[in-house]
Amino acid sequence: MNFKIAVLPGDGIGPEIIEQAIKAMNAIGKKFNHSFNYKYALVGAAAIDKTGLPLPDDTLKKCKASDAVLFGAIGDPKYDNDPSAKVRPEQGLLAMRRELGLYANVRPIITFPSLLDKSPLKREILDGVDILMVRELTGGIYFGKPQGRSEDGKTAYDSCVYSKYEIERVVRLACEYALKRKGRVTVVDKANVLATSRLWRETSKKIAYDYPGTEMDFMFVDNAAMQLIQNPLRFDVIVTENMFGDILSDEASVITGSLGLLPSASIGSSTSVFEPIHGSYPQAAGKNIANPLGTILSAAMLLETGLNLTRESDALKKAAEKSLEAGMVTEDLDRSKPCSTSTLGDWISEYILHN
Ligand code: IPM
Ligand code: MN
Repeated sequence: MNFKIAVLPGDGIGPEIIEQAIKAMNAIGKKFNHSFNYKYALVGAAAIDKTGLPLPDDTLKKCKASDAVLFGAIGDPKYDNDPSAKVRPEQGLLAMRRELGLYANVRPIITFPSLLDKSPLKREILDGVDILMVRELTGGIYFGKPQGRSEDGKTAYDSCVYSKYEIERVVRLACEYALKRKGRVTVVDKANVLATSRLWRETSKKIAYDYPGTEMDFMFVDNAAMQLIQNPLRFDVIVTENMFGDILSDEASVITGSLGLLPSASIGSSTSVFEPIHGSYPQAAGKNIANPLGTILSAAMLLETGLNLTRESDALKKAAEKSLEAGMVTEDLDRSKPCSTSTLGDWISEYILHN
């Protein structure tokens, strides 16, 4: 079959990790007889440099006209230390989430047997961890109005706002995922303090009645932060609001052994976006040392969730797992004899073609 994929490499290590994912996708295309038609587009600091805008119209058009979007990373240190910068690369990402209606970010957190000793956490609490973190992505404090400064500049404010509808659709998605897994949904909130969290709890409880095959429990976010690394095996699907999800999913990445390994899917009303959870890692840009697996595994999620190609996605995941077993790992996982970004990408596409 023919598929249209928008490719947004972005900043920092974005272009080099995306290149490896494209190699792997092409190998899948060859093996399973599909043709992927890529449309490259600018986003983030790379887009600001060329057009002045972090998400040019042309990029948004290409995304909307595609079956799925593969995204690298955005962010550039030249903006981080300049709080007065009017345009920031991150605005491109937030605008894309808003414009494409990417209401849920789905991040699987699994442990790979060959990497159990890479995590700073003890092996016995990690073995068998399989968590699906579902983060609400277009609401809450990231987008709430009003946001800004008082006239005298001495006070600043952000607003956390949620509607029932926004909560319902993401909690329903989490329940749907749970039905295909162990059936457990943990709603993480701060209902002892926040009004939005109380609406989350009230709304989620009602939705639970529609999913008799699932069991829902509730946990305060501070407790969840602790339980995640103390007893990660207790979780199946976690669903939470935007900012709690941002923080908890970075925390959960420690379980896997490296932030560089984790993929994600941002589910939209029509087109979805697939991206690694790590950032643009500017210190490593252009050095051919970054871990491409987060992006390669995001491409696997793209095949499965975005294009409904389950066998193809499994083949890609298997190749990635085999690379870990074979000790083909980048320096975030092995400082003594790491392989380069491109060597790992080549290894994975060769594996796909010959197995
Ligand atoms: C993420 C990132 C973004 C976020 C930043 C870059 C705006 O940390 O995708 O998790 O906070 O959502
Ligand atoms: Mn984040």
